[in-house]
Amino acid sequence: THCILIGAPVDEGQRRPGCLMGPAAYRVAGLASTLIDLGHTVEDRGDLSPAPGRGQACANPAVHHLPEIIAWTEALRASGCSAMEEGMPIFLGGDHALALGSLAGVAAHARAAGRPQFVLWLDAHSDFHTVETTTSGNLHGTPLAYASGRAGFDPFPAFPAPIPGRNICMFGIRSVDSAESAALRETEIIVNDMRVLDERGIVAPLREFLDRVQAENGMLHVSLDVDFLDPSIAPAVGTTVPGGTTFREAHLVCELLHESGLMTSLDLVELNPFLDERGRTAKLMVDLVGSLMGRKVFDRPTHSY
Ligand code: ARG
Ligand code: MN
Ligand code: MN
Ligand code: MN
Repeated sequence: THCILIGAPVDEGQRRPGCLMGPAAYRVAGLASTLIDLGHTVEDRGDLSPAPGRGQACANPAVHHLPEIIAWTEALRASGCSAMEEGMPIFLGGDHALALGSLAGVAAHARAAGRPQFVLWLDAHSDFHTVETTTSGNLHGTPLAYASGRAGFDPFPAFPAPIPGRNICMFGIRSVDSAESAALRETEIIVNDMRVLDERGIVAPLREFLDRVQAENGMLHVSLDVDFLDPSIAPAVGTTVPGGTTFREAHLVCELLHESGLMTSLDLVELNPFLDERGRTAKLMVDLVGSLMGRKVFDRPTHSY
């Protein structure tokens, strides 16, 4: 695979400074050499730095840094869409607001390619607020609502090709605000919260989803938020929530994704290196990318796609 690294040091989608150091931390933790060792080619396009925002405003007074996030969204949409022509973009965050743009870019590309877009959202949070419903005002809590084509995103550009709810699957969910939960119930989005994982494990619900992506010849964007992981193994995130996925569950998700051969783009988001302990969270995220891209302990016969 030709891996295209796109640094997106977005820090304005939340209030805890530090995510802007994420792309540098992934590079220091050896992301490129990990991919090269697995036989991939790597093209690092450096960090985006969008033109300053144009002073856009909205009716919700809680919302902050709106012009900056709109500028990121436009820049990421353009660079994401063009990277899809040439390889597999890996967006190095930066907070989760970057997914407003990465999803817009990949969905625009999928529409042009005539293929359906699917999204696997690995996160403690559903990130299903709109600009109107967010009470924190933190726009990192909004990208899935934007990608679903929900109203309430003025003055953002319209999402290029809204993704049907049935093509979106969440794992690891354990913090959903009431406005999000009410809105989610009106959709067909598959919410595999921690309760589902406790009862069924991670393999069966993941395979159900991947089998559908395969059957419909879909493109698959994977968005990996650091807080998908339990804070005991991944402390470097501003929005820790107890009860997250374990080291093995997270690697298993990545290994199954690799086996499927279905992933076409990836976000690595919410890493805040300022909160890390000797780089352990950055290193874990890079190791998970290794599993996603083919590292395994031992070759065994696997579920075939
Ligand atoms: N729902 C909360 C909010 O809107 C938390 C969002 C956390 N999102 C994230 N990408 N970590 O503020
Ligand atoms: Mn600021
Ligand atoms: Mn998130
Ligand atoms: Mn989260």
